[in-house]
Amino acid sequence: MYPERVVSGMRPTGAMHLGHYHGALKNWIKLQAELPCLFFVADWHALTTHYNDPGIIESSVWEMLVDWLAAGVDPSQATLFIQSKVPEHAELHLLLSMAAPLAWLERVPAYKDQQEKLKDRDLATYGFLGYPLLQAADVLIYRASQVPVGDDQVPHIEMMRDIARRFNHLYGKEKGFEEKALEAVRKLGSKRAKMYTELRSEFQQQGRVDALDQAHALLSDAQNLSMIDRERLFGYLEGSRKLILVEPQVKLAAISRLPGVDGQKMSKSYGNAVGLREDPESVTKKIRTMTTDPARIRRTDTGEPEKCPVWQLHQAYSDIRTRAWVYQGCTSAGIGCLECKQLVIDAIIKEQEPMRERAQQYLDDPSLVRAIVADGCDKARKLAQETMRDVREAMGLSYT
Ligand code: TRP
Ligand code: SF4
Repeated sequence: MYPERVVSGMRPTGAMHLGHYHGALKNWIKLQAELPCLFFVADWHALTTHYNDPGIIESSVWEMLVDWLAAGVDPSQATLFIQSKVPEHAELHLLLSMAAPLAWLERVPAYKDQQEKLKDRDLATYGFLGYPLLQAADVLIYRASQVPVGDDQVPHIEMMRDIARRFNHLYGKEKGFEEKALEAVRKLGSKRAKMYTELRSEFQQQGRVDALDQAHALLSDAQNLSMIDRERLFGYLEGSRKLILVEPQVKLAAISRLPGVDGQKMSKSYGNAVGLREDPESVTKKIRTMTTDPARIRRTDTGEPEKCPVWQLHQAYSDIRTRAWVYQGCTSAGIGCLECKQLVIDAIIKEQEPMRERAQQYLDDPSLVRAIVADGCDKARKLAQETMRDVREAMGLSYT
């Protein structure tokens, strides 16, 4: 019923590193060519953890946007904007909060994990508890069909699907819905109406998801339906409610974890990251001193790639032939670690070259970035306002 749409956001944490590129940005860049995409800077989400240190957020916002553009996020294909410039997100967050069960928020794993990890910050706050609900609002407000994120975000997406379903259940009621839906079924014409009815009962009675998919396709093909009848028929397939908000799907990146130079997950806070636009000398130095298989001390010792983080970088950077050469050379002590690492160094520097070039124009003229974002905010706001009109109406708030 609603068009395919991709939405994703990132917290502004300053300069991006290769982990962000391989874990998220590369995926975004692929998707922007395939589907309408909205990518935004989640500055409010940054405030949930950095509320007592807000000064660093502003510079991080712009630095991160330059990195996105440098990486190849293309403003002529995707819409780029800043969360706090589309305050409709906050309105939806508030309205969703009315019926959001506390237990759902408390059981999101990141809630407790982060509180334990970031012990130096007091995260026993209302804002931090609401983190995943704000994230739900970010996505549901655009009726997104897909959310590209890392695997750590899967529980958040699951919760937002639950929230959307609950919202539709609570507020998608309509007086005489069943009659209106049946009326709309008749408007499909006898052949389609029969198919629709059969597919609906196959889904409802046997739980056949393929029947649901077929029914969705059937409705998408039906030209002569009004928006409102279409909405009813989509809702009627699954129950007896209109679908006001859409349940999005997760879209995982192929590689969602890149090791840092100490072998742990690459992260700015571990100090083990290689920057997206780091200069070649510094990249060389970092990789040359990177941790390897600890058992391979001398050049003549054989190694086990599975125990070496450099090998994981080869998974991201090398083709199958190079990987075979590395594997063979490492396990037979035929190559040295520096030789092995040099291939990774070369590949990283080559990957970064166009990024450094693209970034330059935006660093020379920051007003370019401001203009891209202003345009993106306008586009996002228009879409958000459409959804909010329906949400307010459904919640009985559309009086004048
Ligand atoms: N929580 C996400 C992260 O930490 C950032 C985020 C905020 C987000 N809102 C979102 C991601 C909406 C996807 C969709 O990476
Ligand atoms: Fe790691 Fe490469 Fe050295 Fe093997 S040769 S231990 S894969 S760096």
